[in-house]
Amino acid sequence: MKIHSAIPDLRAALKNRGKVVFVPTMGNLHAGHIALMQQARQHGDTVVASLFVNRLQFGPNEDFDSYPRTLDADCQKLAAAGVDLLFAPGERDLYPEAQQYYVDPPAIQNELEGQFRPGHFRGVATVVLKLFNIVAPQTALFGKKDYQQLMVLRNMTRQLALPIEIVGGETVRADDGLALSSRNGYLTADERAEAPRLYRTLCTIRDAVRAGERDFARLERDAAAELNAHGWKTDYIAVRQQADLQAPGAGSPPLVALAASRLGTPRLIDNIEF
Ligand code: PAJ
Repeated sequence: MKIHSAIPDLRAALKNRGKVVFVPTMGNLHAGHIALMQQARQHGDTVVASLFVNRLQFGPNEDFDSYPRTLDADCQKLAAAGVDLLFAPGERDLYPEAQQYYVDPPAIQNELEGQFRPGHFRGVATVVLKLFNIVAPQTALFGKKDYQQLMVLRNMTRQLALPIEIVGGETVRADDGLALSSRNGYLTADERAEAPRLYRTLCTIRDAVRAGERDFARLERDAAAELNAHGWKTDYIAVRQQADLQAPGAGSPPLVALAASRLGTPRLIDNIEF
């Protein structure tokens, strides 16, 4: 696996590489990221990963400084997963001057995650467009773990007519159901034992809806109460339509239940489709 940090070097290395498939990450890689790399292999000739902790998408009180940076271990995992090229820019490679042009997503950027992380999706959309312009992939993969991110990036790609196919990868979980996340490393042993309740609670919502329940507001309230009774501080639990993350309309559109809740310091997010 070749590693490049400068944009011109990466562009030169990408000449005549056939169909390019791209998986952007912020590093501290786990089996969820690696599953995306393996899936990427099925979509083209050259698999490119990127590793960049993007300051633009972190709020002033978020964990940008303490976000785990584990470049050596990450490189070993990417090489073992058959990634061909790694783009690992430094801050000055990607932001040689203060970024003044942004991608400003529509109103959904202020809902769900966006309500609690102002500016987050603007930072994500901006860096991903920039990475797309550097890597120029035919296909890019993102995990469903970050469901709203996947939706924002899918819609950005379509509305800006980028010639890129966006593919969503299934969420990889630990045996007890906890969605793998770089932030799980912040959990104490006790919190780690409690953490799978988030997914179980989402499963309870799914099962109730499948059994015919349509009072989504009550399901959301009960689920938040259940978590909070076990020491969580819940930001939101919401049942939404998969396609646009709006409140469920008439008929039976495909749904997704999304949640974000704090267990001690770490803030965990998860979702389930049904
Ligand atoms: P990061 O959190 O490193 O995630 C990189 C990719 O891995 C994202 O598409 C994310 O959805 C996916 N992922 C994370 N945990 C997963 C899991 N348990 N199962 C499957 N996929 C999982 O998301 C970002 O980085 C950044 O916002 C980025 C898109 C790179 C822009 O900076």
